[in-house]
Amino acid sequence: MMSRMFRFTNKYKRPLHLPRPVLSLISCKMDRWVGKVAIVTGASSGIGAATVQALARVGMTVVGLARRAERVEELKKSLPPDVGSRIHAFRCDVTSEESIVNAFGAVERQLGGVDVLINNAGVSKQSCTLLTPGNSDDLRTVLDTNVMGLVLCTREAFQSMKRRQSAGHIVNINSILGHKYVPFPNLNLYMASKYAVTAITETLRNDLRNEGTKVKVTSISPGIVRTEMIPEGNQFADTPMLDAEDIVGAILYALGTPAHVQVHEVIIKPVGEMA
Ligand SMILES: NC(=O)c1ccc[n+]([C@@H]2O[C@H](COP(=O)([O-])OP(=O)(O)OC[C@H]3O[C@@H](n4cnc5c(N)ncnc54)[C@H](OP(=O)(O)O)[C@@H]3O)[C@@H](O)[C@H]2O)c1
Repeated sequence: MMSRMFRFTNKYKRPLHLPRPVLSLISCKMDRWVGKVAIVTGASSGIGAATVQALARVGMTVVGLARRAERVEELKKSLPPDVGSRIHAFRCDVTSEESIVNAFGAVERQLGGVDVLINNAGVSKQSCTLLTPGNSDDLRTVLDTNVMGLVLCTREAFQSMKRRQSAGHIVNINSILGHKYVPFPNLNLYMASKYAVTAITETLRNDLRNEGTKVKVTSISPGIVRTEMIPEGNQFADTPMLDAEDIVGAILYALGTPAHVQVHEVIIKPVGEMA
């Protein structure tokens, strides 16, 4: 059972759950979220899958959105029944507004609404430069997923929080590349999409304040993380990398702060990273 979970979540065969003492320490701070509903986008692998597990382990009801919803079902089955039963897998393509509206509508009807949104779904199409002929589909996919998907999921989640007067929390999984230009080849619009996430987070913070709500927004900006997004091969053989659960630790820290404290930005990099 466990090996299935590791194969599913982590190609390097490392477990994606946090050590028990760390989890119990965090659990106390997460008390106010127990029984509340979290939506995690991009829940079928990497950081998203690890986040789904961790939030379910601390007692939240967790909806994992992905196109490959069957992977979220598989993850659910690989966990102890009390944890797995808190996970709900919904198929959703965040490049489609209709798909987003349908998924959030279903969460409203079936689970009563959303209190925490983890905007994690993201792609990097490392197939072309900005100058490559015929690149427009890949460029649009990056913007539609990383920028418009995040904005539209946030809009739907906020409407739910506002309707229910929930002092919710929106966490945007950004990147170190949303703060600093690094000349990686073939990253085309990925960096621009993450710079957009940095600006959108602050715009949202202003919009949320103007709405008079207590909803928080946090940007978490990792350096390189060992997930399916990182191409296999020698290119990164000697590169220090974070693991998905390192990012989960930052998410739980931000969510676990008292109601009056807002973590704006977390930059988290592996020791020795060059960029
Ligand atoms: N890995 C890194 O080095 C790194 C560093 C900094 C930031 N990040 C950010 O971390 C986030 C998670 O990435 P990861 O590293 O965990 O990569 P990953 O393992 O490739 O996971 C990406 C997730 O996004 C989902 N996704 C992609 N397109 C989608 C769509 N149209 N609709 C719904 N879901 C979609 C995928 O699900 P489906 O394919 O099943 O839909 C998958 O679950 C991304 O925002 C990424 O930019 C990653």
